[in-house]
Amino acid sequence: MKALNITSIVLAAGASTRMKSSKSKLLHEVLGKSLIQRSFDLISSLSHQNVFVVGKDSKAIRDELGSDAIVFAEQASPLGTADAVRVGLEAVEKSFQDTKEVFICGGDSALLRAESLKAFVQKHQQSSAVMSLISCDWPKASAYGRIKRDSSGRVEKIVEYKNASAQEEMISEINAGFYLFRLDKLKEAITQIRRNEKTGEFYLTDLVEYFSQRGDLVLCEKLSDYTECLGINTMQELAEAQRVLNRRNCEHWMSQGVAIQDPETTWIEDSVRLASDVRIGPGVVLRGQTVIESGSEIEAYCILIDSVVAQEVCVRSFSHVDSAIIDRSAQVGPFARIRPGTKLGEGVRIGNFVETKNSQFGAHSKANHLSYVGDSVIGDFSNIGAGTITCNYDGFAKHQTKLGKNVFIGSNTSLVAPVELGDGAIVAAGSVITKNVSADAMAVERSEQRNIEKAAEKFRSRRKKN
Ligand code: UD1
Ligand code: MG
Repeated sequence: MKALNITSIVLAAGASTRMKSSKSKLLHEVLGKSLIQRSFDLISSLSHQNVFVVGKDSKAIRDELGSDAIVFAEQASPLGTADAVRVGLEAVEKSFQDTKEVFICGGDSALLRAESLKAFVQKHQQSSAVMSLISCDWPKASAYGRIKRDSSGRVEKIVEYKNASAQEEMISEINAGFYLFRLDKLKEAITQIRRNEKTGEFYLTDLVEYFSQRGDLVLCEKLSDYTECLGINTMQELAEAQRVLNRRNCEHWMSQGVAIQDPETTWIEDSVRLASDVRIGPGVVLRGQTVIESGSEIEAYCILIDSVVAQEVCVRSFSHVDSAIIDRSAQVGPFARIRPGTKLGEGVRIGNFVETKNSQFGAHSKANHLSYVGDSVIGDFSNIGAGTITCNYDGFAKHQTKLGKNVFIGSNTSLVAPVELGDGAIVAAGSVITKNVSADAMAVERSEQRNIEKAAEKFRSRRKKN
């Protein structure tokens, strides 16, 4: 839903002191996406007129969002959320004169579902409220503002945690930090907020008391799922937010027929796409633009980043796959490292302790044990023996290794690139190949073996005497 006359203001200029990190908490990633980017995604479902109030981390936040469609307003020092809104309103006045309603949220609370936001906006628009806010019952002790209601249930005021009495601290209903205001009323009221005596901050939440004392309607929408209201102020809350978002993603994919053995330890970022009948073992991490097609299995403790896995593939335990394409029925791992630019054809087998980079493996080719294959093109049905290394780097530049179809590379071979081996070529084990090998030729590059009869026996008796 896009409502043309709503402008959003995201407050992103706070000091992030509780995070105890050198960078703004809003630049920290929550399940693969920065908090500030998540706030932007949330408000984008509501408005296309967006103001971000930024402070000392202004440049980093602008760089992170990198969007021309955002207006940035600078708050000189973090004097509190009401001061940040005052700064934001100046930008609204300058840039978005057709605004009638303003949606405000902190950049540190991005777990609200788009559907909940939509329902909240509808309720506000259908009412005569000058201000609406979202609350929930928080299940444990917390540092949120407490919602105080009168005997008839009307919202009277918000008491900030730092100002709460022991009795007020017991109130379970908390302010989630999402607000809608009628712009004319907000502009008038924001100038009336006084510094809080205890903290010296200007609290946006003081507006609740301001409006309700004047008889203006303040609407409070209470959500049943408290996880939507999580604010991120500490590393512990950051971890909690990741857990919540990850659980949502796992639930979604399980509802689509993906078998996730242990959703508690499986991590799936938002942009990942999975087909039904994909099976995922415990401890698997799926990141970025990863796509996994039907019938494939990712065994325990694998990490897949920006990779495409076709049908019926098996990635065995402890494999790391980054920016690769794996065709149908291929098998990878256990303990394989598939690096960027790898393309594995249909039915390819990559075994344990094999590293591949920028290499194409033709259909049904194999590298089953202890190899490095870099900058290579390998034809169909070729077999790379245990311990084979492509020597692709001469200290200055990278060079290519090309293998035709049905090539057999014996164990412990070094292929010194640039080098080409024709279809059906064979390389004897232990060779160091520096020259091209033509089709159906056999390359043997090692000194001839000498067997000295009885020498072993003589050697032993010599050692015994000493
Ligand atoms: C705020 C609310 C609290 C609510 C909680 C929900 C106030 C006074 N309190 O508390 O009632 O339960 O959110 O998560 O509003 N910011 C600025 N400039 C400032 C101060 C803050 O831009 O001068 C930004 C911060 O970057 C943050 C947001 O405003 O994104 C909220 O500030 P924060 O300090 O996190 O407020 P809370 O203590 O969490
Ligand atoms: Mg906060």
